[in-house]
Amino acid sequence: MQHISSSTIEEVSQRTDIVSLVGEYVRLEKRGSNYWGCCPFHAEKTPSFSVTPEKKMCYCFGCHKGGSAINFIMEVEKISFVEAVKFLAKKNGVEIIYDGKAPTTKEMAEQEARNRLKDDLLDLYKRIAATYRYFLTSTEQGRFAREYLASRGVSEEIAEEFGLGYAPADRRWLKNFLSSKNYSQEFLASSGLFSQKYPDIAFFSERLMFPICNSRGQVIAFGGRILRDNGPKYLNSSEMPQYKKGETLYAFHLAKNEIRQQKSVILCEGYMDVIAYHQAGIKYAVAPLGTALTEDQIRILRPFADTFYLSFDGDSAGQAATYRAIMLCRKAGVSVKIVQINESFRNLPPDAAKPKDPADVLLNFGAETLTKIVNQSKLDADYLLFMLAEKYPVNTPEGKSKAALDFFPYIDALQSEIQKESCFELLCRTFSLDQKAVRSDFNRRNAVNQRNTAETQTEDSSKTNPINYKKNAELRAMLAVAANVQYFVKIRSIIQPDDFEDAGAREIFFILEECFREEAASYDVILAKCSSDKLRKLISEAVSSNEFAEDAERIIGDGIARIKRNSLERRRDHLANKIRQCNGTTLEDLQLLKSMQYEKMTIDNELKAQKDIPNE
Ligand code: UTP
Ligand code: MN
Repeated sequence: MQHISSSTIEEVSQRTDIVSLVGEYVRLEKRGSNYWGCCPFHAEKTPSFSVTPEKKMCYCFGCHKGGSAINFIMEVEKISFVEAVKFLAKKNGVEIIYDGKAPTTKEMAEQEARNRLKDDLLDLYKRIAATYRYFLTSTEQGRFAREYLASRGVSEEIAEEFGLGYAPADRRWLKNFLSSKNYSQEFLASSGLFSQKYPDIAFFSERLMFPICNSRGQVIAFGGRILRDNGPKYLNSSEMPQYKKGETLYAFHLAKNEIRQQKSVILCEGYMDVIAYHQAGIKYAVAPLGTALTEDQIRILRPFADTFYLSFDGDSAGQAATYRAIMLCRKAGVSVKIVQINESFRNLPPDAAKPKDPADVLLNFGAETLTKIVNQSKLDADYLLFMLAEKYPVNTPEGKSKAALDFFPYIDALQSEIQKESCFELLCRTFSLDQKAVRSDFNRRNAVNQRNTAETQTEDSSKTNPINYKKNAELRAMLAVAANVQYFVKIRSIIQPDDFEDAGAREIFFILEECFREEAASYDVILAKCSSDKLRKLISEAVSSNEFAEDAERIIGDGIARIKRNSLERRRDHLANKIRQCNGTTLEDLQLLKSMQYEKMTIDNELKAQKDIPNE
């Protein structure tokens, strides 16, 4: 683990304009001294996400996410703390300085080596993508691929935007080219660009190349489509340090803005479908990479989109993928619609060639038709019921009950009671079922399921909802200090860490003390020092709500006085106990007794003096 110095974090914090940073992801409106927008981390219609420029904080009062600029970037870009600091440092031209203390030199060296390898790979991939691109656009070798793209109706602008390229047929060319550029053999062998068995032979050759990028648009992998009949249709890069299939979405970097604006995303099967959508002007389309949609991919899209359009093939594999994706998306609480290409062409004459995917539609029917099909997408519940009606003889009691049983998992996956309720009604209406009977079947089935999974998943609600967390007086006082750090200078002269009973309050004290000594007290630094997410949320909420804005001085004054008093009382009781137990015989004992009595008397006086100050 690397430790970035507090001074670096402070500097990053100082230079970050939180309003414009958050504004890149959320539409903000100014109200009073704060800005408000719809939370990027959960679906909502009325803004509960606040940005407090003065404190450089943001926070969602609905889902409790947010915090400092760094926390925000971590969450929204799905990156680690260190990556988020680097991200903001780069954006603001801050040089990163690491603390010497925590990691061993060996760990540092390893980490650095890993980072260097990653950076080198990114550089290499960028270079290769540009070279493939050159082959496609400007060489005789690339002619066939050029013509192929044209025959599929891919425009030159779109090819440019997606960085499409061509990998030459000569399988030794790449090695020769790169060897002349001073790359080490070892590095090239591990670059994923060559055959595992024969390190001189390029993995991709004579293929149309699709660069795969991360969310920042850096090339991290490739997909290569066959052009002549000589092998598998697509070859894809294997997983690499910089490329995790399940966490990557094809074209996400190109679609991100539009996904955010439309609050929708279209998930389709592959490279050509995404390209077709974009060329048709439907620029919020992405694709998982040759695998089923993963929860990680949903998590990446979730902050930007409320509605997920599934545009998979109509064949049985596509239907299975659609069903799986519906369930995953619903469990993640997003709405789902199904783009149905087959259905839209149901009425074509039987001998007419029917388009099977978005690329076919665009090529043969044009952008307007594709747009119309998207607009006619079915709600997932309607789609599922439609499919069930095809699968079972739903005019018989037997068929009805089977269809209903098949539909129950979907109802289970829904995240809102209202939705569950309306889907019950829809199910009953569609198959003319008695609501009571269906409900009792559903409940019986769930009772059985629940017994099977009971007790394995009790969740501590305080983990997810900081509001439920018991805010005791000590913690409240220290949260008020955290929200008004200017008071800390005074407080540290009154209170010591031992004065706290509450661990959270004590931790805040420690954090603020460290910040004070490092002269770095921005919330980016404060929150970075929190040992738990719970504490981070509590502080974020205390700062972002106006709970301690007015009257801070009184709340803090009272709170600190109380902490001091409690601490003194504890000490006094402790002393009283000791004094009682003391059966002083030796001189030493007598001296100890005397000093304890003296201390107790001092404390008594102090407490008496405090009592004269009215509080609460
Ligand atoms: P498709 O066969 O539908 O490909 O596979 P496509 O993108 O529509 O391409 P065209 O229209 O036939 O030219 C969908 C996706 O599945 C993955 C690719 O990501 C592809 O885009 N795939 C397919 C592979 O990884 N390997 C294969 O051999 C086939
Ligand atoms: Mn296709």
